[in-house]
Amino acid sequence: MADKLGGMRRTHHLNELSTADAGAQVVLMGWVQRRRDHGGVIFVDLRDREGMTQVVFNPEHSGPVHEKAHAIRNEYVLAVRGKVTLRPEGMANPNMATGDIEVMADELLILAEAKTPPFLIEDNAEVSEALRLTYRYLDLRRPRMVGNLVRRHKAVQFVRNFLNAEGFLEIETPFLTKSTPEGARDYLVPSRVNPGRFYALPQSPQLFKQLLMVSGYDRYYQIARCFRDEDLRADRQPEFTQIDMEMSFVGEEDVMAVSERMMAGLFKEVLGIELSLPFPRLTWDEAMDKYGLDKPDLRFGLPLCDVSEIMENTGFKVFAQAVKKGGMVKALNVKGGASMSRKDIDDLTGLAAVYGAKGLAWIKVKEDSWQSPIAKFFTDSERDGLAAATGMEPGDLVLFVADSFKVANDALGNLRNHLAKKLGMVPEDKFCFTWVTHFPLVEFNEGENRWEALHHPFTAPVEEDEDKLLSDPGSVRSRAYDLVLNGVELGGGSIRIHRTDLQSKVLAALGIGAEEAQEKFGFLLKALEYGAPPHGGIAFGLDRLVAMMCNEPSIRDVIAFPKTQKAACAMTQAPSTVSAAQLAELHLRVKKTD
Ligand code: AMO
Ligand code: AMP
Repeated sequence: MADKLGGMRRTHHLNELSTADAGAQVVLMGWVQRRRDHGGVIFVDLRDREGMTQVVFNPEHSGPVHEKAHAIRNEYVLAVRGKVTLRPEGMANPNMATGDIEVMADELLILAEAKTPPFLIEDNAEVSEALRLTYRYLDLRRPRMVGNLVRRHKAVQFVRNFLNAEGFLEIETPFLTKSTPEGARDYLVPSRVNPGRFYALPQSPQLFKQLLMVSGYDRYYQIARCFRDEDLRADRQPEFTQIDMEMSFVGEEDVMAVSERMMAGLFKEVLGIELSLPFPRLTWDEAMDKYGLDKPDLRFGLPLCDVSEIMENTGFKVFAQAVKKGGMVKALNVKGGASMSRKDIDDLTGLAAVYGAKGLAWIKVKEDSWQSPIAKFFTDSERDGLAAATGMEPGDLVLFVADSFKVANDALGNLRNHLAKKLGMVPEDKFCFTWVTHFPLVEFNEGENRWEALHHPFTAPVEEDEDKLLSDPGSVRSRAYDLVLNGVELGGGSIRIHRTDLQSKVLAALGIGAEEAQEKFGFLLKALEYGAPPHGGIAFGLDRLVAMMCNEPSIRDVIAFPKTQKAACAMTQAPSTVSAAQLAELHLRVKKTD
């Protein structure tokens, strides 16, 4: 009995046929990429997720089928039965995997018609992202997007296989849970059966994976969805995916070693690229000193340099003052940058201002003099000191920011990245991983006038710094580590606190009182009292990792259905309003906003 496919069964994907199949009877199914009418003969490029094959409708071969083919339009869905034939001499298409053959159609079934799509289903079609996201199902038909999602799939499969072989167990943790302390805002879910109460969607499985260690499930992993209500950027989504791991009876080096082997295996398997291990390790102090950022891009040089000591008594008051107030003067020698114009330098000053710098001083190094608005303030020994510290040579442009540690580093660190790009110093095909270790345990939140965990409150301090927890929290280093790739934070983790006394001390340093701690994560504190093994772990941003492996600047391009910058879904129109009845059931009322 004929079914809806006219009794046809697909025999091949559209990338598969080659000259070796010449003469074979095949059945192909897919979407119409293009239809060309060449004076009687109709050619159709048929597309599926694997590739494309040319189908020929020839009136001399089969009149009725050719007649039917006139109706075909772009994006129609077809089933075609026919014979594989070699393309005539000179007609082969070397740009197509199946370019040596075509399929002469004997039977055609139009499985679905299609409206004209709002943009061409091609990689280089000019189309706004808003339109792409509205018609995401069409956008996902484009070969680039297919390639990205296939690569993502391969990456996830590799990670699973790798971790399984390393003895990790994949365990799921709840979505409907309690707030976790990753520092972003929570997405809340009202509870119908518990009026006035809310679940929080997890910002990460952090607490659950630690509890699994307490339960003895040494070596856990999860390809975990995380939810964070934060301001979005190209590398941030409100829901994103982590490769989340936790291990017991380990120190930093154990977690880092497994992670490195996973990355090396992944890059070899998916991209055919050999990474050399171990990855370089920088302490946070070293990273800040040399690159100004805790996620340094090591694809190029351009190191920063601290010239505070040389400048502490200088006649240029802005510099001397900054040092006296406990800040610093930091310099960036832009090698060969002296040819930059005043306008270029003004633009750089504008960029530095974005990061809080109140100015950007500069010196252009000429053959035997300096051109600079500030050089006149310096003594000979200050000049010599600056020249030596920054390695000045004729043709260089040296930039300075005098400010707090944070602003000086942030401004010059970001200028360093900007200038390297602008001056063509970034090798695009290089993958430069680095670990950054020994982060400060806490940082001061000026707005709220209190110390905050830089990572999360369960991160262990470095043992020899423990006794400074209450007297000088800002100087305590943590056992946290980040993995950075080409200036992007790919992942972060730490060795956790597994002793309740130490955990209480850290919470006290963070100004989290016993009551608040009980209310927020009392269950974890209680669990630590029942025999918690030393443990630690890490989580990698899968979206960021895959975006870099696909050379995509935005993680939206490696997520099938991402949100816009406003955390909305352009296709489904979520978030949307709900009915009064739904609200009532949830014991909620919406306040009118204007
Ligand atoms: P952390 O908060 O550093 O650590 O997150 C780990 C990694 O997740 C990625 N990431 C994101 N990716 C896309 N969109 C976002 N909004 C987003 N936020 C974070 C980053 C980041 O490095 N529980 C700890 C891990 C641990 O300690 O084991 C955690 O979540 O690549
Ligand atoms: P002024 O004396 O304000 O004209 O500044 C002289 C030069 O120093 C200008 O190039 C300013 O951009 C620069 N400058 C001002 N404040 C700072 C600062 N905090 N750090 C670095 N350069 C600065």
